[in-house]
Amino acid sequence: MLHPPSYTAGRFKSIALERMEKVRGPEGVECPLGIPFVCVIGWGSMLVALTGTPGTGKSTVAAAVRTKGWNVLEVNELARRHGLLRGKDPARDSYEVDPEELQEALGREGYAEGILVGHLAHLLDVDMVIVLRCRPEALAVRLERRGWPAAKIRENVLAEALDIILAEAMGSGVPVFEVDTTGLGQEETAEAVLAILAGEREKYAAGNIDWSEEALRWS
Ligand SMILES: Nc1ncnc2c1ncn2[C@@H]1O[C@H](COP(=O)(O)OP(=O)(O)OP(=O)(O)O)[C@@H](O)[C@H]1O
Ligand SMILES: [Mg+2]
Repeated sequence: MLHPPSYTAGRFKSIALERMEKVRGPEGVECPLGIPFVCVIGWGSMLVALTGTPGTGKSTVAAAVRTKGWNVLEVNELARRHGLLRGKDPARDSYEVDPEELQEALGREGYAEGILVGHLAHLLDVDMVIVLRCRPEALAVRLERRGWPAAKIRENVLAEALDIILAEAMGSGVPVFEVDTTGLGQEETAEAVLAILAGEREKYAAGNIDWSEEALRWS
């Protein structure tokens, strides 16, 4: 996980609201949000980041979306193929990956249309970001089932509670959507993602999910 040090839950919300006022069009043209999103997805081939804190269900959804004919690429696979997994962190049992190197690898593969899956996907040059979310308490249960150590669970659950990935995604300047997976089954989550890909805009607008009441419990 990346952990920008100065972010707070309140700041995330203001970043989110600021960013929601504008979506970026082709060649840097800014379109007011009033313009239907279908005009954005009509702008030719699209690269979509499916991101979220570990355990929010990205790979599960990706598998379902792939069966609907979408190109799906796991960022971890991309990193592995290009030898970009560097500096293993034994405490976290994870590797450091440089987003710039990932971006170059993406270019080398000529991957320009489809869905990039992983908790770093929103740091790449994409046209749209979908962030999967999960209520911190429920996320902790999912991560416990993985047998992760308590410190690693806490770190990731806190990142979810503080909207870390959402805030990073908002910094990209492209349209960002959020899906709360907490009460959804895997199929329903996949349906929500497919609806966004099909042009649904209002229902999954970023900024509507708020875990701030739970954030204190995990900090
Ligand atoms: N909508 C859902 N509701 C409940 N559980 C789910 C849902 N989606 C996935 N899960 C479960 O949550 C766990 C994590 O799912 P998954 O591996 O897809 O997460 P991930 O976001 O890809 O994580 P990572 O970033 O570590 O790869 C799995 O055990 C999966 O079965
Ligand atoms: Mg995964």
